[in-house]
Amino acid sequence: MPPTFPDRFLWGCATSAYQIEGSPLADGAGPSIWHRFAHTPGRVSGGDTGDIACDHYRRMREDVALMRDLGLTAYRFSIAWGRVLPDGRGRVNPAGLGFYERLVDELLRAGITPMATLYHWDLPAALDDRGGWLNPDIAPWFADYAGVVYRALDDRVPLWTTINEPWVVADGGYMHGVLAPGHRSAFEAAIAAHHLLRAHAAGVQAYRALGRHEVGLVVNIEPKHLAADASDADRRARDLADAYMNRQYLDPALLGRYPQEMPAIFGAAWPGWRDDEVEALRVPVDFLGLNYYTRSVVRHDAAAWPVPATAVRQPQAIHTETGWELYPQGLADTLVWLHQRYGGLPLYVTENGAAFYDPPHPIEGRVEDPLRVHYLRTHLAAVQDALARGADVRGYCAWSLLDNLEWAHGTSRRFGLVHVDFATQQRTPKASARFYADVIASGGGALAGTASR
Ligand code: BGC
Repeated sequence: MPPTFPDRFLWGCATSAYQIEGSPLADGAGPSIWHRFAHTPGRVSGGDTGDIACDHYRRMREDVALMRDLGLTAYRFSIAWGRVLPDGRGRVNPAGLGFYERLVDELLRAGITPMATLYHWDLPAALDDRGGWLNPDIAPWFADYAGVVYRALDDRVPLWTTINEPWVVADGGYMHGVLAPGHRSAFEAAIAAHHLLRAHAAGVQAYRALGRHEVGLVVNIEPKHLAADASDADRRARDLADAYMNRQYLDPALLGRYPQEMPAIFGAAWPGWRDDEVEALRVPVDFLGLNYYTRSVVRHDAAAWPVPATAVRQPQAIHTETGWELYPQGLADTLVWLHQRYGGLPLYVTENGAAFYDPPHPIEGRVEDPLRVHYLRTHLAAVQDALARGADVRGYCAWSLLDNLEWAHGTSRRFGLVHVDFATQQRTPKASARFYADVIASGGGALAGTASR
């Protein structure tokens, strides 16, 4: 008999501002780096942009009603910095802030707990013009922005997260350039990473001064495994890959030190931060948010950069449309690892989901997505497994509520539990949404009898 979920377990879905809102310049908002990036030819597949996306900015009430119909008890969304502060700092735009006030009020009316993320990759372009994440002033800029939002919403928002997946911001935005702002430099990536951590720390400190509830950090973790015939070089590559992706942010933020592998990974690009600079990154948080999608089995590969490791496809496994292996056991193991390594902090699964092919238009009004149902079922069972192994998991957010703009993939990768017909903006809950609604209504009972692997 699998363990039950705790009584106050939060059942949610997650989204982010640029991926769903549309109307990026409405009501006095300033453009973000994603607005610029998507409007640069060749950057986003199919030339897609966030100009309309899911039109959520104009359909917010309808979308909250959808969440209520699914029985969600939590909703994780992000706030677009440039709607609140069009220039990134200084002048506040009440109309932009007003959108999030209305969203939060609507959620509360529907009995849904809001979880707000302050930064999900859409830096105001005006700050990028001043160096963006490379400028040391980004930490106080972020704290000032956070303060404006806390003052407006903390009376109604009990759960806050600072930065979504700092590793992706630095790796995609500054190391490999596949995400905004599209730079490609190890020297920049190491600096951006450090300033992301400084901004996180400053955002938490601002919360301690102004807020009354809980604040945490959201990281993406991908367990790095070895093949059965791994060599010493493979082992070394695995350790470097694990340090780069999984420990580079959590160790400084929670333990006050960078992993020892960092100089080997960055070589001449490693800035060699002073001990006091690194210790200043450690600021207590109330919880950790885990975004979990997959694992990778790695091998040494001298041509790979900055870590000499390549993922080896597992031919026996199911893979998603983004090429990610379905590996629910990794979610259970990661939750337990976080619990053990970082002092038993409360944990939320802040994202977990899969892109599988769905047709652009529903067929006879329905969208059947058995692979996504399987993904959800096995990963929720993995959360039960982690609970049974002692991890303090307080909630789960499926990624994502809606099919949306999957960054550089545009709308070509569908992660939603609710189908969006981008030609008409019609929403259709998929079979996975109906399954999730049953799980929620039964407090997890609908999962009984399923295995986590
Ligand atoms: C991000 C989401 C993204 C999802 C699927 C996460 O890294 O936080 O914005 O859509 O993964 O790629």
